[in-house]
Amino acid sequence: MRQNNVQLKTSIDVFHQRKACQLAFNIIKALGQLIEPGVTTGYLDKKAESILLEHHGTAALKGYRGYPAAICTSINNVAAHGVPGQYILDDGDIITVDITVELGGWYGDIAWTFIAGTIHQDHKRLLKASWQATMAGINAARAGARLGDIGRAIQETAGKFGCSVLEDLVGHGIGKNLHEDPVVLNIGKQGTGLPVVPGMVLTIEPIVTLGEKHLKTLSDGWSIVSRDNSLSAQFEHTIAIFGRRTEVLTMPEKSPDSSIDFPPFF
Ligand code: MF3
Ligand code: CO
Ligand code: CO
Repeated sequence: MRQNNVQLKTSIDVFHQRKACQLAFNIIKALGQLIEPGVTTGYLDKKAESILLEHHGTAALKGYRGYPAAICTSINNVAAHGVPGQYILDDGDIITVDITVELGGWYGDIAWTFIAGTIHQDHKRLLKASWQATMAGINAARAGARLGDIGRAIQETAGKFGCSVLEDLVGHGIGKNLHEDPVVLNIGKQGTGLPVVPGMVLTIEPIVTLGEKHLKTLSDGWSIVSRDNSLSAQFEHTIAIFGRRTEVLTMPEKSPDSSIDFPPFF
């Protein structure tokens, strides 16, 4: 991804992309309602596929660089790109579900972290840090700001909770392709980086961890874990920058929940 090839969207483009994003949100919400001890990650994947089919969307992740499923299910020490399958959710598991929807040629990308069964004290701190980091990033993403402002807001917010962001995993532009320019870093310096301009559609998707920020990939070739095996969480939204406001495309049309300090549970 080069930084200098940003595809700006018109409001008509955003009109279409919003539909993909709303479908992605509805799927995440439906999957969230199914998450409890005893459910397999493969079942969640099948459910996502069937909702996509029903709404004439396709699973953008399936086949992406050879990825084998419609969703990513990253559990406990797995920070990203966990592959759904036979795994049965256990009480107290923390699971991040990531889905990218393609609808009418446009892409919508969302991820959400859920707890199966019992929520522990550490989970609460992590969820708060992660949710607030994403919201701080979104609030910083306004026309006239710089990409570095977004990264700084995310990093600073995670730090307030004693958490760190996994610096190697980044947000991105998104439109008629899943991954477009620019790269949206989750760290940064105020007033630096590319200007944020109307027409940009970006994902804000910091992965926040209770432990250290260094990563390794497991032998399945996909699962990325933090090297010290600590828990992580992630809330990803697709957002559109307009001249005087920024819209979260992957939330319900009226989204009062974006101002709360804890992720809404479905
Ligand atoms: N949806 C992920 C993102 O937020 C991409 C996952 S790529 C996969 O950018 F191949 F692991 F599925
Ligand atoms: Co993304
Ligand atoms: Co995603």
